[in-house]
Amino acid sequence: MLADLMKKSNYTIVYTGAGMSTESGLPDFRSANTGLWENEDPAAVASTEALNKDVERFFQFYRTRVLGVKDCHPHKGHELLAKWEKEGIIRGIITQNVDGFHSVAGSEKVMELHGTLQKVHCQSCGKKYGNETYEEEIFYCKCGGKLRPSVVLFGEGLPEDTFMKAVEESERAELFIVLGSSLTVTPANQFPLLAKESGAKLIIVNMEPTVFDEYADVVIHDRKIGDVLAEVAEQL
Ligand code: APR
Repeated sequence: MLADLMKKSNYTIVYTGAGMSTESGLPDFRSANTGLWENEDPAAVASTEALNKDVERFFQFYRTRVLGVKDCHPHKGHELLAKWEKEGIIRGIITQNVDGFHSVAGSEKVMELHGTLQKVHCQSCGKKYGNETYEEEIFYCKCGGKLRPSVVLFGEGLPEDTFMKAVEESERAELFIVLGSSLTVTPANQFPLLAKESGAKLIIVNMEPTVFDEYADVVIHDRKIGDVLAEVAEQL
């Protein structure tokens, strides 16, 4: 079914959430017991307020996430998406993920709505650094300002240019495939609806039900994304 829809579509966009990287060993945010926000309050560790008022906790939370990204790697599913982009089967990826794994796996047109843990910048002067700073526990810029990962914190807006590109791609999509997102965080969760309203077929592949299942043409629950994509690869 999914492979048939992909073959028929001239413009397929893939949209990924944290469920795309759990098979690489990175936790998602809302899965029962294992989700990051099951054990941490996002406002306390991943917000502009945390950066300003509890910076040591902010630094340690994000150092753990940077180390996690360095210890883990893209899985076969990431590699298949990169291969399908090269073959013109998919036209781009809109991702909420900050692990950078789509780019590491070779995908080129990747819209990182929430930024990336692969880069760090100074909150005061904007100077850019590699994330090895956090690995080496270097948390301050030469100017004295705080270093922070180049991710979107709670309380911040999404990068304008990336957002507008994702709008354009969602409106253009004939097929829009969600992989591994609970679709609970705005405005990132609006893109599947925008694609649907613009005439695309909407597919949701997610272990658990999502808040937007009712709008989807096809929903695949209770299956790992890696297995679903491997099966599609055999049918393409
Ligand atoms: N296969 C299929 N689905 C999976 C898999 C898997 N291997 N692993 C996890 N999932 C599903 C879970 O059931 C869950 O519903 O992926 C979904 C991930 O949802 P969330 O943890 O809410 O992650 P996401 O939707 O990406 O969160 C959006 O919230 O905190 C912010 O900025 C953060 O980008 C993140 C945003």
